[in-house]
Amino acid sequence: MNPGNIRVCKFASVVVALTPRWGVLLAFAVFATAASAAEAPPVELDIDTHTAGPVINRNIFGQFAEHLGSGIYGGVWVGKDSSIANVRGIRSDVVGALRALKVPNVRWPGGCFADEYHWRDGVGPAAQRKSTVNTNWGNAIESNAFGTDEFMDFIDQIGSAAYVSVNLGSGSPREAAEWMEYMTAAADSTAGKERAANGHSAPYEVRFVGLGNESWGCGGALSPDYYVNQMRVYSRFVHNFNPAQTGERAMQRIAVGADNANTDYIESVMKAWHDKVWSWDLEGVSLHSYTSAGWPPAHPGVGFGEDEYALLLNDTLKMETLVSAHSALMDRYDPQKKVSLAVDEWGVWLAPTPGTNPGFLVQQNSLRDAMLAALNLDIFARHADRVRMANIAQMVNVLQSMIMTRGGSMVLTPTYHVFRMYVPFQDATLLPVRLNPGRYVSGKITLPRVDAIAARDRGGHVWLAALNLDPRQPLRLSVGIDGGAAHRAQGEVLTAAQVDSVNTFEKPDQVVPQPIAGSIQGGRLMLQLPARSVAVLGIE
Ligand code: AHR
Repeated sequence: MNPGNIRVCKFASVVVALTPRWGVLLAFAVFATAASAAEAPPVELDIDTHTAGPVINRNIFGQFAEHLGSGIYGGVWVGKDSSIANVRGIRSDVVGALRALKVPNVRWPGGCFADEYHWRDGVGPAAQRKSTVNTNWGNAIESNAFGTDEFMDFIDQIGSAAYVSVNLGSGSPREAAEWMEYMTAAADSTAGKERAANGHSAPYEVRFVGLGNESWGCGGALSPDYYVNQMRVYSRFVHNFNPAQTGERAMQRIAVGADNANTDYIESVMKAWHDKVWSWDLEGVSLHSYTSAGWPPAHPGVGFGEDEYALLLNDTLKMETLVSAHSALMDRYDPQKKVSLAVDEWGVWLAPTPGTNPGFLVQQNSLRDAMLAALNLDIFARHADRVRMANIAQMVNVLQSMIMTRGGSMVLTPTYHVFRMYVPFQDATLLPVRLNPGRYVSGKITLPRVDAIAARDRGGHVWLAALNLDPRQPLRLSVGIDGGAAHRAQGEVLTAAQVDSVNTFEKPDQVVPQPIAGSIQGGRLMLQLPARSVAVLGIE
């Protein structure tokens, strides 16, 4: 197998990886013999702190919260009368945990759900809320108890920004425009008065608006041309009236784009954008791609070994190929990179946990999945010049979630810990890294043994994230910073007894970060990375 864009030379043991535009520049020898980690020379990594790359937009650490299974009901919303501690119906334990992640944006209400969502069903007094059927997800009854005002309250409680997907599939431009008006118009307008009567007189901020969802699939299976016609109309009429939303806070419109490697939509959207007239615009186009190593998703969340570990990590690396290819396509229409590539659905999609409703997409979340999340985040960071938004699917109780809840209990998943460890990379400036990653071989699969990114945060501190993908061997990492400027490094490392170790309600601390520190030897920073681990360290 050939991970990412690694090119194997014909004659010998030399591998050269051609890089995304910023990031790892690789040129390394393949070690033919399997020396033990203790004997093996350290993996060399050099951080160039003098060359600033693009800013890693904090919005690549965004999340996705859909009305699906117990993603919202039970996971976020318990209702004001619940015995579970809550503030205005929103559970306080989940809010507390999410605040630590500094979640930059939350995509809501879907997903496929969004193209059948009618916002009026979910505003006003409880008696006015309409019960509907969630046709996409198990035909569950949707009470609409959690609607626009509850979502905005949730966003406010966790300190995040709203990414609202409007209904392009079964709604109308007028419905979407009126929703925007309800959310953002001044308090003395009719829409603003209605919002004020529902408890919020000040306009909300809607930082991102999605113009449909997967319109090539659950969003109506529209042809690319038909979608582009619709999308232009929505782009024109989803006005944001909030006077505070100017400059950096101006609302961004995100069009439906690529389904994995399929470029039909992204090409049509970018061409339309290139040829556009004054009356509409776009700030982003999406890519949806899940890690599943086959479809329908069949790999279990627990009880797997090294084969499936390697298989799923290998499948993760396709994100590099996808992002590179779609960025190159976008460059043809937008060489100045004005339009962002928004990977607004990504993550591992596994077989449903046995005994759960398959329509609710419940799955466990292992150390492997946390590593897979870190690999994706590294890929997005290396493409920070184009990838300025991403949303992991999903936030609570669904797919690769941050948090699992059961009644009044809550468990933080290994993926949660990676997102918390990566907080220093939000809005940090990417620094180029030179790395000899070595390789890790499992059967027919060959992966780089190490993956890493480095960045300088806004306070001037340098951060390193490094993964040891080898599930059996620890490794020594020798880090050079501008020829010896490092004095010390400390941070956290996430590993566990096995690649399929998980946190459960009974044992919530099987996979939790531990402190890690480096030592200085001969002017270089030496780190011991445990087998199957992700480490994030601040370097001084
Ligand atoms: O995240 C689950 C579903 O996956 C979303 O609703 C849809 O957009 C995608 O196919």
